Amino acid sequence: MERSCQFQGTRLLPPSVALTLMLLAPLIGCQSEVPYFRPNLVEIQIEEDSSEPITEDQQRLINETMLAMFGTPDDPANPFPEDEDAEVEASGGPLTNFGFDVEKLKIAAGPAYKDAEGNQHGLYRLHCAHCHGVTGGGDGPTAPFLNPYPRDYRPGVFKYKSTFGAAKPSHDDLKRVLVHGVAGTSMPSFRTLPDNEIEALVEYVRYLSVRGETEIRLIEYLASEGEMPGSITEIAGGFPLAVDDDGIPEEEPEEENVVASVMYQWDSAPAYIIQPVSSPIDYSEPNSEAMKESIARGEKLFYSKNLQCNSCHGDSAQGDGQRDKYTVWFKWREDLGTNNDDPAEINRVVHQFMEVGALQPRTIHPRNLRLGVYRGGRRPIDIYRRIYSGINGGPMPAQGTAAGIAGNDVADDEAGGSIRREQIWDVVSYVMSLPYEPLSQGTPLQQGPKYTPR
Ligand code: HEC
Ligand code: HEC
Repeated sequence: MERSCQFQGTRLLPPSVALTLMLLAPLIGCQSEVPYFRPNLVEIQIEEDSSEPITEDQQRLINETMLAMFGTPDDPANPFPEDEDAEVEASGGPLTNFGFDVEKLKIAAGPAYKDAEGNQHGLYRLHCAHCHGVTGGGDGPTAPFLNPYPRDYRPGVFKYKSTFGAAKPSHDDLKRVLVHGVAGTSMPSFRTLPDNEIEALVEYVRYLSVRGETEIRLIEYLASEGEMPGSITEIAGGFPLAVDDDGIPEEEPEEENVVASVMYQWDSAPAYIIQPVSSPIDYSEPNSEAMKESIARGEKLFYSKNLQCNSCHGDSAQGDGQRDKYTVWFKWREDLGTNNDDPAEINRVVHQFMEVGALQPRTIHPRNLRLGVYRGGRRPIDIYRRIYSGINGGPMPAQGTAAGIAGNDVADDEAGGSIRREQIWDVVSYVMSLPYEPLSQGTPLQQGPKYTPR
């Protein structure tokens, strides 16, 4: 967890003494401590059992490398050490070269204050850090009390986006999340902020995510190879990336050019935006005959052997099917679940992880589709993309394939997907009708499955 001040051991003191100490904290200078990017100790712990566990010296090396490339929470534009690459420094520092808009980052970073002209600075710490943490680890002081937990940006895994599979979100996807919030969760809407502030925050989320993923990859590299991928200049990788006419990078960098290969994924995201086949159904006519037929076809598909949406969402679609899965940032917990049945041992390991900053793992529940609350947006196209691509980072599977994303004419069932793309619209129709379908049709919980899979 991210705290500017640590009172280790206050639990052992009488409550009155502990409270006095906390109230005195600002006076004894604790609050004025400079916020720092917290090293990813959870990832280091994950690698504990690898052939080359991370040593303290290596950890220090990672921290120094990260500082040289990404600066600090107060000053993201910190350049490489002078002797490392003078050319990089002369051209505006590493962040500019990675393709970041450093002016935007500067508005979002640092402590919150208003300048003489009334411009707000420190947007991230003002609006986001108490939930997402200064480092973007999803572990700010408010986080343990929320369900779902705020997103940990460091694995670079985002859920509510228009791009296929594990592809990064587009700029517009992140912006949509900030403007609309995530319905049904504590992620608020920031619609009232001026556009330039939203833009600055989007850039800062991308920066924290690229930073966090770079760190994870360095830890993984060290754990498998026993050494760093190269000098700081090599880790940063031959930037700027060469792009084609659409602004998509032409060539995938080497794995050793860590930052460049993370940036490559962000920059190539627009190539993965799911373009649906046009909808055969008119969603502005909810009572039309065509709509009723589409809903009926979608209902069959929902319970079909092919899709088995009900295996997770339940026969009643209230989200009461399978509930033993975790989101990816608890991948260590999932390993435990499959490798170990001893509750005492599981408890011991969970606490080991919580001691280095992990939040108590929670299972991920399939959504209750009868509530009509959609985290990724409630337009038919949003639901289409959710079903086409599944939900990245969780168990909800994709029904479409990478072959169909550009709206070309590949039949997805032939390319390895489960259904044709027109049929996805029928499933969208059914999902969107669920909040209005009378439950008196019988909750299969009491009456046995409504459909036997076919
Ligand atoms: C009150 C707590 C809270 C605050 C404040 C907050 N968030 Fe979130 N945020 C969340 C939660 C919870 C989620 C996860 C929702 C989920 O998993 O369904 C989330 C998710 C996100 C996501 C991931 C969306 C995706 O597609 O995976 C982004 C990006 C994000 N928040 C950015 C921000 C930014 C930027 C700010 C500040 C301007 C902010 N959040 C403020 C709680 C918060
Ligand atoms: C393996 C389990 C699983 C299967 C199979 C599955 N889902 Fe899901 N689904 C989930 C989980 C888990 C969530 C919640 C994800 C989250 O909160 O991050 C979800 C969420 C959703 C949402 C909410 C999206 C949003 O924006 O909030 C919709 C709609 C949905 N599923 C539809 C479907 C349909 C239609 C099918 C069948 C084609 C299906 N699901 C199959 C597990 C599953």
